[in-house]
Parts: sequence; structure tokens; C-alpha cells
Amino acid sequence: MRNDRLLPLLERLAGTALPMHMPGGKRRFPSALPYRLDATELPALDDLHAPTGVLRTLERRASALWGCEQTFVMVNGGTGALLSAVRAAGGGTLLIARNCHRSVYNAAELCRLPLAFLVPESDGTILPETVEKAFQNGQNIELMVITSPTYEGTVSDVSAIAAICRRHGSRLLVDEAHGSHLAFLPGWEDRTAVRRGADFVVHSLHKTLPALTQTALLHAPADWTDRLRFACSVFETSSPSYILLASVDECLAFLERDDAAAVWRDYADALGEVRERLFACLRHFRLYDAENAEPGKLLLLTGGTSGVETAQALRERFAIDVEYAYPDRLLAMTSVCDDRETLGRFADAVLTLDGEAVGEGAPEHPPLFRQSGENPLPQAVFQPFELRDAPSRTVPLAASAGEISLEYVWAYPPGIPALLPGERVPEGLPERLHALAASGVSVRSSSGRFPTLSVLA
Ligand SMILES: Cc1ncc(COP(=O)(O)O)c(C=O)c1O
Repeated sequence: MRNDRLLPLLERLAGTALPMHMPGGKRRFPSALPYRLDATELPALDDLHAPTGVLRTLERRASALWGCEQTFVMVNGGTGALLSAVRAAGGGTLLIARNCHRSVYNAAELCRLPLAFLVPESDGTILPETVEKAFQNGQNIELMVITSPTYEGTVSDVSAIAAICRRHGSRLLVDEAHGSHLAFLPGWEDRTAVRRGADFVVHSLHKTLPALTQTALLHAPADWTDRLRFACSVFETSSPSYILLASVDECLAFLERDDAAAVWRDYADALGEVRERLFACLRHFRLYDAENAEPGKLLLLTGGTSGVETAQALRERFAIDVEYAYPDRLLAMTSVCDDRETLGRFADAVLTLDGEAVGEGAPEHPPLFRQSGENPLPQAVFQPFELRDAPSRTVPLAASAGEISLEYVWAYPPGIPALLPGERVPEGLPERLHALAASGVSVRSSSGRFPTLSVLA
């Protein structure tokens, strides 16, 4: 066993040293939870904010696995990594894909950066020509942020986008929260954001790899180390959980295994088989498929049958929970920890429900992102950070068209804002949000008081 691994260190600690320090459970609180291994920074365990020992080794191992110069290990998710990267590298106007995660919007607000938007295509990707056009507006853009793969698994042309950014003296941050596994997935190894030339890349390890919830990585060029180290310390707890850090260690050890390639090959083959079976046998539903869609996401288009009700049937009749459901689709996430048995069980259940479905069949390529070209973005009258202390009044969302919102409103998941503070509520948006909520999708707002909206008085 390597002597720079965290779990053996924690186990050794648990068995020997008397903890006259934090945390209060003292590694002896009786519980089924891992109190025995609960530790924070100690001389033997290094310091996440200034790593020189076992955690520095952990960072180096992650950099080697993904092929980048510097990696920061995070215990507060892709959220913390995105906040840190924008804090360190943002300046002037922050150019972001409209389908960025809420944390990018929160970062812009905290750092008082004006936002400009790239409108995604209907599959959620950003075209290089959209980026090129955005740079013609004369704004000073130091950082651009896109999400690739999207929550649904579609991947943008990061090489072309990175080249445009470089040409305009800007840097590219790719939120690859959903793509940590791509570097190991046969056929996708060279399509990662690191390989395709992004400057900064965020991985939510826990989403698609075997690492505990909240674990994430931020990859960057070496000359950004000091600025990013500080930014990470702004957003990261000063008492990181070593249970989470040990799980990053376990995950990397899994990726470093001698037989890792065979394990990934097996997963890819099992995925290929289940996808083939669903393509061949579905009559009413349809499995989303595109050259730029990574295969680990099983996006089931349910056509005239409610995706929300299909998800409910999967849960109640087959004991299967999916990632999210919308009126016309549901998303099942897979990982290398699935196998032929689990994937086959999902396919059996879906095929049963497909056999019972009535009404319109699913279209081949429905819009995955609805605010594309034909559905323009709301008019931005103010930047979100300008309205923090603005006078407000509360109106029913149904009566809010034409008002200036003081809230973020989003459907969850995936947490992409449909409306921002400072935007004029467009005609039709309240009705669309009400319809989404009525169909069983969770719609949320900053105040938590949906379906009312706080607007500028
Ligand atoms: C695209 C995207 N980026 C970032 C995040 C935030 O990641 P985390 O949950 O690890 O904080 C999410 C979470 O769902 C996401 O979907």
C-alpha cells in the first residue's frame, strides 16, 4: 500500500493517538457514521490551504490523472471550485453561457462583475461563432465560462472556443462538473476540457466518479497557483473533512489501478449494450442520441407521456430513482459503478413502461435548453449586484410580467436561472414557470416564496 494514502493514515490515527483537539466527537462518539475517522488538519494530515505533504501528493496525483499542471482538491463541491475560479480570474465583464450553474451567477454577484451572455443552442451547447460574436461587443472580457458537458451530457467544441478566447486575450473556464469521468471513458479520453485547451476546469468528482458527495477538483495552469490557492481559501471551510478528502484519495487510487482500463472498457461495453437495446426496442419513448452526447447519461424522451409520471412509476413500481424528470423527459445517470445487472434492470423497467405508453411518440431532437434563439433572453435593466439593497414589493408571479425582478428564479434540478435580479419579467415566462410547477417540476426562487416574486418598487 502507498504510504501517502489518507485512509491508512486516518485508520492509524483512530487506533492510536489520543485526540485532545477538534472535532468534538473525539473519534469515539458511538454511531454508525464514521466518527472514528473524523479528523481535520493535524501535523500528520497536512493542511488543505497550504499543502506540502500528503495533500500535495493528492493534488499531484489528480494533475497526473487529468493531464494538467495544477489541481486543487475541494470539499465544497463544484460550487466552491466555480466561486474560487471566478474570484481569481474574473475581471471586467464575465461572459457566461446562459445555462451556467447558479454558482457562476452567485460568483458574479459576489465579485460585482457585470454579466454578458452566450445563448446556447437548443441542445445546450455553445457554438464557436456565438463566442466570436460576443467578443465583437467591445467589452473587456477577462474570463468566459461555459458548461460542457451539460447536465444532459452534450459537449461543446472546447478546442475552437478556447482558441477564440486566446485570440481575444481572454481565459476559458469550463464547468465540466458532469464530466470528471470522460478522461477514462473509452473513446472520450481526448474530448476533455483539459485536453482541448481550457484554462480552468471544474470537476464535481462526486457526480460521475466514486467519490463522496461534495468532493471536487479545480484544474489550472501552474502560474495561477497562488491566486487560486487564496481564492479557494476564501470559499472553502478552514476545517475540511478528512473523510471527504480520504474519499478523493480512494477515488484516485481506483483510477490509478493497473486494471483501470479494463474496468472502464467493461463499463463502456455495458453502456453500449443497454443503449443498443433501448434504441432497438423502444416504441414510444426514445433514447436521446447525438455525436456530441456522452453515453453515460441516459436521457429518455417520453413524448406525449409525462416524464414526471414515468419517473414516479419507475420509483413506485420498480424502486428506481432517476436524476431528474421534466414533462417530456427524464434523465438517468450511470457511472462506472453500474454494471450489466443495474443497467439491465433500468432498461427492463423502461421497456415495460414504454409498452404501456399511449399518445404521441417522442421526437428525435427536442430542445434540451429552452431559452435558445427563438425564445430570447429577458431584458437586463440592471446587473444583479446593483440591486442588493433596492426597494422592493412582492407581487404574484402571475402578475409580474413587465416588472423588474429582484430574485433569481430557477427550476431545480438543474438550477439554471430562468430569471435574474435586474431582468424585466418577459410576457409568457410566468405562465411557463407555473406550467412547469404544475407538471411536478420544482420551481424555486431566491426568497423561497415562489409563486410570489419580489420586484423593484
Ligand atoms: C453544471 C453544474 N455545475 C456545477 C454544479 C455544482 O456542483 P456541486 O453540486 O458539486 O457543488 C452543478 C450541480 O448540480 C452542476 O450541475
